[in-house]
Amino acid sequence: LRITEARFSSTEAAAAVLKEQQVPASDEASATEVSARKKTFREMLSERLEQAQRTVLIDCISKINEKKFLKYLSSHGNIKNHFFYESYGTYAVVEFSEKDSIASLQDVAGTPQFKDECPVPFKSRIFTLTLKSPQSQASDQVPVHRHKLSTVPLEELIRKLCNADNVSEQLHMLTEEYQLTEENTKLRFLTCSLIQDIAGAYFPNCIVKPFGSSVNSFGKLGCDLDMFLDLNEIGKSTTRRKTGAFNLQYQMKRAPSVRVATQRILYVIGEFIDNFGPGCVGVQKILNARCPLVRFSHQPSGFQCDLTSNNRIAMQSSELLYIYGSLDPRVRALVFGVRCWARAHGITSSIPGAWITNFSLTMMVLFFLQRKNPPIIPTLDHLKELADVQDKQVIEGHDCTFVSNLNKIKPTGNTQSLDVLLGDFFEYYGNFAFNKYSLNIRKGKEQNKPDSSPLHIQNPFEQSLNISRTVNMTQLERFITLARESAWLLQQDKGPSSSSDQPWGMVALLPAVTAKNAGKDARRKKGTTSERIKGLLESLKMNNPSNGERTFST
Ligand code: GTP
Ligand code: MG
Repeated sequence: LRITEARFSSTEAAAAVLKEQQVPASDEASATEVSARKKTFREMLSERLEQAQRTVLIDCISKINEKKFLKYLSSHGNIKNHFFYESYGTYAVVEFSEKDSIASLQDVAGTPQFKDECPVPFKSRIFTLTLKSPQSQASDQVPVHRHKLSTVPLEELIRKLCNADNVSEQLHMLTEEYQLTEENTKLRFLTCSLIQDIAGAYFPNCIVKPFGSSVNSFGKLGCDLDMFLDLNEIGKSTTRRKTGAFNLQYQMKRAPSVRVATQRILYVIGEFIDNFGPGCVGVQKILNARCPLVRFSHQPSGFQCDLTSNNRIAMQSSELLYIYGSLDPRVRALVFGVRCWARAHGITSSIPGAWITNFSLTMMVLFFLQRKNPPIIPTLDHLKELADVQDKQVIEGHDCTFVSNLNKIKPTGNTQSLDVLLGDFFEYYGNFAFNKYSLNIRKGKEQNKPDSSPLHIQNPFEQSLNISRTVNMTQLERFITLARESAWLLQQDKGPSSSSDQPWGMVALLPAVTAKNAGKDARRKKGTTSERIKGLLESLKMNNPSNGERTFST
């Protein structure tokens, strides 16, 4: 193993992604065409992945002379972008214009000396910066602006929401506060790129891509970082030369199945991350899950990471959600609102169990928007009809084809406000015949349930599977009860003008505030809240798998 060969050039990463999407990288005409329309998911990914390859992470002192800091780094190359944030200390994310600048920086970086321990000499792109003579330089240093990586506390959010004019504005405000910032997204891609350096020690042409809520447009500050180790370029058989007398193939070790090969790869990379990965702690190899993964905490970024491989369908789901989230601003606003409501009521949880997941909840919102008249978002089948030849994707025998060019999708004629849609959402699911029907995003229609699971949401790509198979009846009933209650509350709602202290709109639906502010009514609410907590604990006892694994339900 030659660790020094771990890094591979940004151009290679970008070229690999572009090749996959069949977009000529240096074609000026195509660049103009791209800027004239909305970026596709893959274009967004490849651009950000390439950017991350030119970026380093520096653990700084909290007070620093920013000008001098930038001047010092500029001696290695032009700095395109930088920002500071607070994690376990103050960190700087510094993006150079050229990848070569990083090698130059690495050349001057020293090896740390510890008193009783020995450093493991894996040279990454995470550095520590200190002052040469702290005493004499102290007066020169000032606190820098540090970006926030977490959401505002619920109480603060609620205060802001109270100043809105209507529910629609509340939901847009909530989305603004909760959504991933540009800096947070950059840090997510950088973290993937740092893990790619590690995986690249074994598989020089691999790509580590973020998926799930980090990129599907529904990510909330503080959400986990799902990573996909893409070895496809390596696994793909290269085009055989048609001429010549010989065929040449790599010799490769055999594994009994793709699953076992994936488990072995993740095992080894998990070991590397655990033993040599700077800032990677709490590494757990969860290899027997339906989707084997390595979970760890990346301390410098503060992200909880789940690294998977051979998980191409999840990448397609992320793209599909990204498309839906980009079609109409009401989609993301409603999803953020419903997710916030669900989290505040303990309908979703960060603890594994029989809860409804954020992923399922998002699908429920999407399905509801498909059922509107006229529909606010199209069915997956319609997106498939709009697909080009290069959009064709068949993964493990499943047709995952849908259009990637957002401009080809016609905007909806539905003009309903979010005030109406939020109430309708709760009413729709408060009365939905979950006992009979399954939600089918592909057709945008309910269908007869194929089995007796309480909540059935058909996996849009692996159609025989249910993405909410782990949800139990208790959790579904809680969801229905709360949806009915919320629909009722919104119907009674008189809006912001009624009385100054009275919570209204989205705020009235959040338990903490109703309990605190709503006078007499609060006691009734408090009662319900404690009953809810009791139910929650009961449900936890019954359903929480003791090993703490995240198990994909499908
Ligand atoms: P949050 O992390 O809760 O913000 O949302 P997320 O969408 O990232 O969910 P999660 O981290 O649990 O999973 C990451 C991605 O894996 C999802 O976006 C889906 O693409 C996929 N996924 C998660 N759970 C399931 C499941 O039960 N079935 C299937 N088929 N895919 C899943
Ligand atoms: Mg996630």
